[in-house]
Amino acid sequence: MLDLTVSRDNKPPLYRQIAEQIKTQISNGRLPANSRLPTVRGLARSLGVTRLTVQNAYAELQADGWIEATVGRGTFVSTAVQQMSLQPTVGQYLTPDSAINDMLAINQVIGVRSMAMAHADPALFPLDVFWRQMERLRPEANQLFSYGPIQGDAALRVEIVKLLHEDAIQASPDDILVTSGAIQSISLATAAIAQPGDAVLVEQPTFLAVLNILKAQGLRPLHVPMQLDGPDLERMEQLISQHRPRCYYTVANFHNPTGYSTSAAKRQAILQLAQQHNLLIIEDDIYGKLGFAGPPPPSYKQQDTSDRVLYLSSFSKMLMPGLRVGYLLMPPAWRDQLLTLRRATDLCGTGILQRALAHFLQEGELKKHLRRVVPIYRERRDALMASLGRWMPTAVRWSEPQGGFSCWVSLPRRLPPGLLYRQALENGFAFTPGEAYLMEETGHEHLRLCFGNLSTEGIEAGVKLLAALIQQQLDSTLPRSDWLPYV
Ligand SMILES: Cc1ncc(COP(=O)(O)O)c(C=O)c1O
Repeated sequence: MLDLTVSRDNKPPLYRQIAEQIKTQISNGRLPANSRLPTVRGLARSLGVTRLTVQNAYAELQADGWIEATVGRGTFVSTAVQQMSLQPTVGQYLTPDSAINDMLAINQVIGVRSMAMAHADPALFPLDVFWRQMERLRPEANQLFSYGPIQGDAALRVEIVKLLHEDAIQASPDDILVTSGAIQSISLATAAIAQPGDAVLVEQPTFLAVLNILKAQGLRPLHVPMQLDGPDLERMEQLISQHRPRCYYTVANFHNPTGYSTSAAKRQAILQLAQQHNLLIIEDDIYGKLGFAGPPPPSYKQQDTSDRVLYLSSFSKMLMPGLRVGYLLMPPAWRDQLLTLRRATDLCGTGILQRALAHFLQEGELKKHLRRVVPIYRERRDALMASLGRWMPTAVRWSEPQGGFSCWVSLPRRLPPGLLYRQALENGFAFTPGEAYLMEETGHEHLRLCFGNLSTEGIEAGVKLLAALIQQQLDSTLPRSDWLPYV
């Protein structure tokens, strides 16, 4: 039965303390689907809090789908709550493809606290404002539901150019290709500039979908290890000289999955290398507007004097991923090829969403939204850092991201693939194992925690659980030879 305590001198409001503890008991299986929760009056009395406090806790749990209330019958744990141990596909060895599949599946499951996906928090989406923009478009709906322009909505391209100008990137609306998200931009960019068999330089670890794209297009990834201040330049130079890669895919700001950012000095050195070796750069700046400590260093594109940078970003992280709107700045040499490929892929995006987004941007709503959410994400990053410091065994290390959603955690020794992942899921907590990012028989000693999508209390509860599982493994009798130096 429910075992709750509340602390009056702690910061989380009482209703959040109650809601988070109930979530913990649901996700660890103590409160299975259909369990009856106490009445509002009964719980309020037993905890010594007001009825309104319990009502607020139940309302939050209900809004998130964790519980259901039926008039006359009472309040129950939702029938949609699933124990992840029942999912046969989860917990196997993860490839980049299966990892993405798992993340999306876990995202749909109620009853799991997930730090697996680098996702903006849906509870923070500016739905009312966006909806009003959609309603305004009713008179133009016939036209907007027809096939739209191949490069994307003209008004939206004007707004995207303004966003780029804020970051000192020069462009005109005619240079912009609106895409169905950054993943499509990357895929179009690599298909336009590389031929099957060509080598492509990627950071190690790197964004999972890129590894999938390269595989699907028959391109060969060359891995350059990530360091705290960006890629290992010496290794990069060796790889370029030996393999002559066609391009370098990079996330220089608040990298996924490590949370590192490439320093200004390394960006300059890499631009010089690219110039010297005729290397193109695909710059994915999807997290650029989510910095916690002021603007990041100048982008590659900002410093690109020879049109060798294909710059891309999207509204998935700074606004809402379900819009499926991204953009690619087309250098003149690749413009025709990119447009041909877009015509051959999905022709054009969803006109009505693009136009609503254009109005949303025109009215300054993106800036307002970012002013509201970035401090919340910073607070969640702080909560993650504090929780890791408080609960993790001393031998565990982690990155300190200055923006974005990803934190990279390194264990002092390699654990059997999938073990921790499976155990955490069985206890209602999800993260992404490092092996999915590395495409090698290494990586089991790393994992990625994303802090965008959970409350600060949810983050602490998840980290506490994970830390206990890690401690158990470190205390286990695996041979000492499995211990690794830190990476
Ligand atoms: C670096 C990076 N690029 C692109 C994406 C996906 O972008 P989109 O949803 O716009 O396709 C992600 C999502 O995790 C990402 O981390």
